[in-house]
Amino acid sequence: MSIALIVHGGAGDIKADRFEGAKAGCKEAALIGWRVLQDGGSALDAVEAAVRALEDNPNFNAGRGSCLNKEGKIEMDAGIMDGHTLNVGSIAGVELIQNPITLARRVMESEHTFLIGAGAQFFAREQGISLCRNEDLLTERQYEAWKHHTHSSLTYEAKTDTKQKKVQKHGTVGAVAIDSTGKLAAATSTGGMANKYPGRVGDSPLVGCGFYADEYAAISCTGYGEDFTRLMIAQRAAAYVAQGYDARQAGEAAIDFLSRHAEGDGGLIIVDRHGNVSKARNSKHIAHAYINEHMAEPVADIL
Ligand code: GLY
Repeated sequence: MSIALIVHGGAGDIKADRFEGAKAGCKEAALIGWRVLQDGGSALDAVEAAVRALEDNPNFNAGRGSCLNKEGKIEMDAGIMDGHTLNVGSIAGVELIQNPITLARRVMESEHTFLIGAGAQFFAREQGISLCRNEDLLTERQYEAWKHHTHSSLTYEAKTDTKQKKVQKHGTVGAVAIDSTGKLAAATSTGGMANKYPGRVGDSPLVGCGFYADEYAAISCTGYGEDFTRLMIAQRAAAYVAQGYDARQAGEAAIDFLSRHAEGDGGLIIVDRHGNVSKARNSKHIAHAYINEHMAEPVADIL
């Protein structure tokens, strides 16, 4: 079986001064996941390792570098799925966790599928995952963005044009992979939407919405979470592969469905059971990097 992996570092209108950092971060994460696959590791281990690298990178809105909610708190969401067993693990609204994707993986390996807030933190401690400090997650960039939002919140909330709210930067991260045994896996992690309502949860930890994996395909999404949730974009893309589409066709069909039924923007990455990787977007950019057995190193781009 041919191994392959693709990661993303979020979609939206990425500013030119962030291109290089986003591409370098995606490339590094893809390489970390790739080494796991090359060593004969599972797709599940590869996507977890790649997403951990993206969470540790302050350039992305996940783990360290997560955005702040209206109260100035960092609440993170993550989900992971094994396409072979269809086992799934998610966490949402979790504070003070350095690598939310690893906590989601531990949930997947427990009797639970989804833990939130204080309960997820309690579970983390039971699992020997110690809580980090807020300073370990908070970056100057996100703090400044929050201050800007807070000072302009009156104008922001007065806006009635929904497009104003739906076309934003989405720094969610994710990875999908196929391993040497043909098994697929998907992982997604995020700080959510900047200045979000406390307790708000988007698509990222919701199976079938922000991530999905089965025997046909694995998908990770990034974008305006409310629309990806109600349209179940990740599962929709996998269903297109089950119907006979390849990764590129399925990804584009799912994003076309999003564009026809919603105003929100974003994108996805996908790998199919034949090892084809692709990305699709209706946003201006999607930071990503991919690698397969025909390539010497990952190729990264923001388009
Ligand atoms: N797609 C990430 C979110 O909406 O929270």
